[in-house]
Amino acid sequence: MTRQAERTDVVERYTRPTRWFHALTYLTVLALLATGWWLTTGHEGRPSMLATVTGVPDVTLHTYAGWTLTGLAVAAVTVGARAARTFLAESVRADRGDLRWLRRWPVAALTGRFARHDGHFDPGQRIANLIVTVLLAALIGTGIGLLAVDGGPAFVWLQRIHRWSTYLVTPVLLGHILIASGVLPGYRGVARGMHLGGKLRVEVARRIWPGWLELHNKRARK
Ligand code: HEM
Ligand code: HEM
Repeated sequence: MTRQAERTDVVERYTRPTRWFHALTYLTVLALLATGWWLTTGHEGRPSMLATVTGVPDVTLHTYAGWTLTGLAVAAVTVGARAARTFLAESVRADRGDLRWLRRWPVAALTGRFARHDGHFDPGQRIANLIVTVLLAALIGTGIGLLAVDGGPAFVWLQRIHRWSTYLVTPVLLGHILIASGVLPGYRGVARGMHLGGKLRVEVARRIWPGWLELHNKRARK
């Protein structure tokens, strides 16, 4: 069998630890979204399907998942500090040509004819990364606050911010899942970069992250 190191048709965009971190994060966030939306739409007294299957009430499930996400965030800024710094630096970068990329994006998502950009993330991903990071941080902060405070005006404010952060983060995450699952023609093949061994086809990388691929190849030749 061909070893991956010898394959030239695929490229590794994310290391195994990053792929595992991503998978644990999204399982946790999906559980939080499901239980959070269940609670905020007035179903608190009725167990959701998740609560029925596990036998654990929704509020408790939500709190467990909340602490898990908190733990993942702490791990990201401690054990994963280097990766977290790179993620942040690549998310705040802005280059000439990014606006052109953004203008062409709605059509390119369907045709695959993206304008050039030089980042590890495309300009759309960068915007999404920053929004999701800020909102998840707000959800963690206010979530812990809700557990620490016992009623009163502080509780009302924490709950308000917690709820509004949910309203804002939900469409961004749904957009991320739609794009990253590769169902849009322009993004076909991207899911492999983060799943099933992380072997992204080179032609997909060239179409969507051309500057990153060139840098990756240059480093690999050294
Ligand atoms: C993706 C992240 C999260 C989402 C989308 C989310 C969403 C929600 C929503 C929609 C509610 C119901 C608010 C209401 O209508 O009153 C809620 C309640 C709550 N959340 Fe979160 N949450 C998240 C993370 C967290 C975290 C990290 C914690 C704590 C560590 C947490 C703790 C709580 C608590 C304590 C409540 C109140 C539960 C109750 O009704 O007693 N959440 N969350
Ligand atoms: C719901 C919680 C999730 C969160 C918080 C999350 C977060 C992230 C972040 C921050 C990135 C880095 C770059 C980017 O913005 O694309 C990423 C990449 C990625 N995610 Fe997610 N994700 C979630 C769910 C999912 C799901 C359910 C899928 C399944 C299709 C997925 C597939 C991917 C893929 C394929 C990439 C790599 C894109 C690339 O090569 O740059 N994500 N995710």
